Amino acid sequence: MAIPHPRDIQVAVVDWLDERYPFTKAVDEALYQRVPNFANAFYYCFGGMVFILIVFQLLTGILLALYYVPDASGNPAPAYTSVQFIQNTVYLGWLIRGVHFWSANILIVMVLIHMARVYWTGSYRAPRELNWMVGVLMLLIVLTLSLTGYLLPWDTKAYFATEVTIKIAGSAPPAQLGAFIKEILQGGPVVGPPTLLRFFTLHVFVLPALIVLLMYVHFRFIRAHGISEPL
Ligand code: HEM
Repeated sequence: MAIPHPRDIQVAVVDWLDERYPFTKAVDEALYQRVPNFANAFYYCFGGMVFILIVFQLLTGILLALYYVPDASGNPAPAYTSVQFIQNTVYLGWLIRGVHFWSANILIVMVLIHMARVYWTGSYRAPRELNWMVGVLMLLIVLTLSLTGYLLPWDTKAYFATEVTIKIAGSAPPAQLGAFIKEILQGGPVVGPPTLLRFFTLHVFVLPALIVLLMYVHFRFIRAHGISEPL
């Protein structure tokens, strides 16, 4: 029996899949779209850079989660020692942690530049208002990710910075609302193990899931409107 050429196997597999669901058509529709020539101006790149940085964050975050222990009980707390272990012992742990840290910082700068570009070219105007609003939500999520991530190393700096943040949030008027926000964030009378668990849950599950969902919506909107023209 003649050995089939790998290409024939590939065609057969793709045909088989396409008979069950129009994968080729779906991928073509998703990937191939004519982009206007003006979109190669450098200032259209910042949204894509934000996207790449978020992918970096997801990948390095998953690697950090392999070793991080969100437990602030005991002294020294496992949360603290696990971060020290990542930094000093895990193979390339310092690099993964460093990339996560620096991407987070650069991400905020890039989001602000991207937003400034959208503002400068007036791209928030009709029909793109909803996409601007989706953007504002993503900006808030990026900032909250930084805030919640800051506590996770559970060192003195993280602890007292979070205490200050929670105090600020807790001072929101009226007093009952402030006290309620503080209680929700802190999970107890002081910043302690429940606070760490809450911040960890937000940082690792809730906010990443939300931002991935919103990025999908953002990109669907961009596809629907096409990119806005320069001034
Ligand atoms: C945080 C994650 C974000 C990602 C991954 C993202 C990604 C992108 C990308 C790839 C584009 C295509 C054009 C370009 O890159 O300039 C774009 C366009 C756009 N973005 Fe964002 N963006 C984010 C945040 C924001 C924010 C914070 C705002 C505003 C508050 C915003 C508002 C818009 C609008 C209105 C457009 C359409 C612009 C046009 O058609 O010229 N985005 N975004």
